[in-house]
Amino acid sequence: MFQKTRIRLLLAYLGIFASILSVFAIAVRTVFVHTMTNQVVDKLTTLGQTIAASSGFKNGRIQVQDNLSVRDLDMQRQSLQWIDIQGNIIYVQGNRTLSLPSVVRDSIQIQPNLSLLSINIPIVDTYNRRLVGYLRVSQSLDELNETFRKLDLGLAGGAVISLLLVGLGGIFLTRQAMEPIEKSFDRLQQFTADASHEMRSPLMAIRASSQVALRYPEGMRPSDAEEFNAIMRSTERLSRLTEDLLMLARLDKKLASTWENIKLAEILKHLADQFQAQAVAKNLTLSYQPPNDSLVIKGNSEQILRLFINLIENSIHYTPPDGKINISASLLGSWLEIKVADTGCGMTAEQLEHIFDRFWRSDTSRSQWTGGSGLGLAIAKSIAESHGGKITVTSQLEVGSCFIVKFPK
Ligand SMILES: Nc1ncnc2c1ncn2[C@@H]1O[C@H](COP(=O)(O)OP(=O)(O)O)[C@@H](O)[C@H]1O
Ligand SMILES: [Mg+2]
Repeated sequence: MFQKTRIRLLLAYLGIFASILSVFAIAVRTVFVHTMTNQVVDKLTTLGQTIAASSGFKNGRIQVQDNLSVRDLDMQRQSLQWIDIQGNIIYVQGNRTLSLPSVVRDSIQIQPNLSLLSINIPIVDTYNRRLVGYLRVSQSLDELNETFRKLDLGLAGGAVISLLLVGLGGIFLTRQAMEPIEKSFDRLQQFTADASHEMRSPLMAIRASSQVALRYPEGMRPSDAEEFNAIMRSTERLSRLTEDLLMLARLDKKLASTWENIKLAEILKHLADQFQAQAVAKNLTLSYQPPNDSLVIKGNSEQILRLFINLIENSIHYTPPDGKINISASLLGSWLEIKVADTGCGMTAEQLEHIFDRFWRSDTSRSQWTGGSGLGLAIAKSIAESHGGKITVTSQLEVGSCFIVKFPK
């Protein structure tokens, strides 16, 4: 019964944790990428500035010696390009050169397909302080990207392991959190079952005594006879209520009950005959369409009987005189489908949401028929579900309702 709540709680834990973890991972990655890229930029800028400062000039143009060899330059990963003021490349050192045009104003250039980062350092003629060109210092980002890849792997792996651990912890936590609730619910169920069981005998005694008293009405005043009749009616209602509570408590506790092969067609025929008199008394047409196939399910016959009694009783009570009630059964694929349809008062969509709730009755039912307690449909639903089936209902106000019970074949 609490399985769904536990799963929902666990998923909520996991969802919250996953969100926190994602925010954390994104923050760590952003800071890390930013810091590492800045480090490369700083290193390249220092290297470029040192080399640019030692450039030679001739007639206001950069002069690069042909056999220039720059210390500290990693020829495999880094490169230098001297560019004149028109953007022509004058001299190159190193293997990894940027193929992008030298955009002079952009001091940092990144070519993602080559995974290269370049910095353009202006070269100023020390003699007349005029800009004569640029030195473009480039470095391969392969190493950096590899580091980022490892970081991503680490973060993803860490996240998966953390989620697994949180999942395990969550299972433990939800169990801890739900245990007291489940225990108190169990106790409540046990109390309901015990209380309704204990109430059976005194109720029976009251009923028997009233019956005995009413057997000789000659000896009592007419008003006393009426009182005894009222006692009888109330006792019957109370007995029905305790039986319903006991049945619900037993269904909730999923107590093992004897299961047998039940011939649904026979049960429905029997019920249609049994309720015929009540229907006729209210001027209702109660019809039954027997199925073509023999519909057999495995279940507890007492419970199955109770399920359909509740549905048929409802349709009789909630259908005004001259109405029709039709019971039908059929085999649909792998489901046995039983329909109890009436032309009764029907229900609104809002009411339909509550009809299977315990003790729920519509306001009109409360004022019109005092025999019910609002447990009938809750019991019917519990019984259908305990047999692997389900109940659905379609209804239209003032037109009628159709309750459909489905059992797996
Ligand atoms: N066939 C029906 N037609 C109209 N309303 C219905 C029908 N069956 C059930 N209901 C509504 O659902 C409520 C709950 O039904 P149920 O659980 O059997 O309780 P009860 O019959 O004791 O009132 C009823 O009070 C009634 O308002
Ligand atoms: Mg009812």
